Amino acid sequence: MSEKIIIEGGYELEGEVRISGAKNATVALIPATVLASSVVTIYDVPDISDVEALSDILRSLNVEVNRQKDHLIIDPSKIKNIDLVQDNVTKLRASYYFMGALLGRFKKVKIKMPGGCFLGPRPIDLHLKGFKALGAEVKLDDDGIYEISANELLGTNIYLDFPSVGATINIMMAAIFANGRTVIENSAKEPEIVDLAIMLNKMGAKVRGAGTDEIIIDGVSSLGGCFHEIIPDRIEAGTYIVIAAACAKKMKITNIIPHHLEGLISKLEDANVAMELGDDSITIVGNKEIKAIKIKTQPYPGFATDLQSLLGAFLTQAKGVSMIEETIYPERFKYCEELNKMGANIKVKSPVCFIEGVSQLKGTEVSATDLRCGAALIIAGLLAKGTTTISNAYHIYRGYENIVEKLRNLNARIWEEK
Ligand code: UD1
Repeated sequence: MSEKIIIEGGYELEGEVRISGAKNATVALIPATVLASSVVTIYDVPDISDVEALSDILRSLNVEVNRQKDHLIIDPSKIKNIDLVQDNVTKLRASYYFMGALLGRFKKVKIKMPGGCFLGPRPIDLHLKGFKALGAEVKLDDDGIYEISANELLGTNIYLDFPSVGATINIMMAAIFANGRTVIENSAKEPEIVDLAIMLNKMGAKVRGAGTDEIIIDGVSSLGGCFHEIIPDRIEAGTYIVIAAACAKKMKITNIIPHHLEGLISKLEDANVAMELGDDSITIVGNKEIKAIKIKTQPYPGFATDLQSLLGAFLTQAKGVSMIEETIYPERFKYCEELNKMGANIKVKSPVCFIEGVSQLKGTEVSATDLRCGAALIIAGLLAKGTTTISNAYHIYRGYENIVEKLRNLNARIWEEK
């Protein structure tokens, strides 16, 4: 996999792009298959490196994983509860979903602390609080290896101090076979959680309330296989919508669920972006004067933290001073330094940044410090005069399927360095 993405900017984009299955759903659905005793087939699985990494972890548990085109066929019938302490586990954050899934299935899991994008501190206290409430004992050794085990998992009420996506998913999976009823209060409401609940219920689980702030799980004794199609990726959709608003005369983005994008769409309307909404598509008509706006990231259905860096790049083109307040990961502003290297005028006073436009961005060498920073740099590179070289592009491949190819089909001058 190439490590650099190079963009020659300043060209107008046009055309149509199809959005892939949701990364943040996929990374929960794959670990959830360890709860099944027969084959699970998942459709529209994005071809991204996080999927490869999670598939490898499944294989190390003696689970058979085969990819055929866009679907993943997972056979967990011969699964073994092997300790997940090898380096591939720490490569990505989402490997922590094996905590809840294996605890649920075997009542015991040994796993190394997960890695992932550095967005500031990313504690897992709420996940652990949930496991303990279900009756598990949690031990952490000096090498960062967790051992979580229970003689019996018992349904209970768990209140989350913050509606954490990760904690909600992990506790849901740990509670699937618990005795009795588990209620997660102040649960996260993200569409990816609903998608997971739908798949678990197809497998025979009893999960209600996903998408609200109270999820109720009635324990069952086993789960079977199922077929499941992943929802479209609202963050990838948001990325192409912002790319279109920044760089296209006209661009159609298909395979989206508009309802999942309301937070973004309303902000782009405030910024004077013209959009036509279809049932499962959106067309952006660019070239209007962009206005400065204020954004505050919030848990779903609020404005997604995963989209703020993209707006940061876009708003360098707005007239006036825009403001972004980051309430989920207050240190998620590393991309601003990189954008400033390209001629942006952004001042960061965490948890807020101020973006003064309009800036003519100039191509230079920048680094993708995390996945969504990388996406912001792509937008900036498409807008910039001259050549932008983005290093550490592997972060981008973790979350965006065929991004270089998709953008080339939209007339972008972009390539990977071999
Ligand atoms: C998930 C997504 C990530 C997205 C984020 C917010 C995946 C793999 N990752 O991350 O792309 O940016 O949601 O939508 O799907 N917190 C605690 N204690 C915990 C857990 C979380 O204090 O035990 C805090 C975090 O520090 C953060 C906030 O809660 O401030 C949100 O975390 P959470 O919703 O869990 O996000 P992630 O699961 O890390």
